[in-house]
Amino acid sequence: MDFEIQLCTEDQRKKKVADSELAFGTQFTDHMFLMKYKDEKWGTPCVIPYQSFQLDPACAVLHYSQEIFEGMKAFPHPDGSINLFRPFENAARFNLSAERMCMPQVNEDLFVKAILELIKVDKDWVPHSPETALYIRPTMIATEKFLGLRASSEFYFYVILSPVGPFFKEGFKPTKAYVASQNVRATPGGTGEAKTGGNYAATLHETCIAKSKGYPQVIWLDAIHRQFVEEASAMNIMFIIDDEIYTPPLEGTILKGITRKSVLELAQNLGYTVHEERIKIDTIVDQINKGQCTEAFFVGTAASITPIGHIFHKDEDHIVNNFNVGKITQHLYDELVGIQTGIIDDRFNWTYRID
Ligand code: COI
Repeated sequence: MDFEIQLCTEDQRKKKVADSELAFGTQFTDHMFLMKYKDEKWGTPCVIPYQSFQLDPACAVLHYSQEIFEGMKAFPHPDGSINLFRPFENAARFNLSAERMCMPQVNEDLFVKAILELIKVDKDWVPHSPETALYIRPTMIATEKFLGLRASSEFYFYVILSPVGPFFKEGFKPTKAYVASQNVRATPGGTGEAKTGGNYAATLHETCIAKSKGYPQVIWLDAIHRQFVEEASAMNIMFIIDDEIYTPPLEGTILKGITRKSVLELAQNLGYTVHEERIKIDTIVDQINKGQCTEAFFVGTAASITPIGHIFHKDEDHIVNNFNVGKITQHLYDELVGIQTGIIDDRFNWTYRID
């Protein structure tokens, strides 16, 4: 399919900030991708200057949250090329989310090509410093104007790019997590597995509680027993117990993280034993206190691998590894980021070069 490319004028260009000033998701590049769906088909794929949408106040996304998105990153490599990380995994997950949310499928080759064409136009925006990347946000929203509750018949699929620094401003340092005591993020049969905005909105209330007590992150428990660890604020979670890796299984309430999948594959390749099994929070804190659970970390596209140094559960603090980065966490981080940034040879064929 032919792409329409409309470049911005000189005075539409934005001022870039230095890599050292980059926060997460506050700066956006000069262009975006947009493709509209109407009458049961997608229109022309377009790269256009970054711009606001004019949406009718009655449109479906604003009332019933019919929307999905993805998070991806592009990294510069030492040979000067720019590389995506496993983009077809995101394309496939986007379509799973679309199905759950009654939205049209996007051809997976077109999904990746949209990102490639956009990044080619805005390649000067890719930051080059350690712990920075070009964050990519493919999104689909329901744009039909009506208030009756049914699936929309009109949609926008768009992609925006954001040069980012670390998701946690402290970078690769241990963070503190609060075990959710009031709310749940997802329920069996709900939308927990889909990457849809409502799942993230549902995290905000408990996160406000956690933050008011000094904990920036929340660990979510299952909705039925309020005992089994599911995931974290906006990321998957892993624990090291007796030098083996444990993470909750994908049973429908947890996002199928691509970083999660990559870390598990990487860990097995490096010789670690990996367990995808249900883990009780009471067992975890008990094992932390007995010195058996020696490391814990979050995994996600935005967060990469972020160590957890402190878990608050039922009015008690549990310090993991003396609030230091553990050796397995460090090993996995070095390998993952090394592959993503082209410093370590990509033996898995995960990186996708943009020519
Ligand atoms: C990501 O990790 O890419 C996400 O979508 C999480 C978001 C809260 C930044």
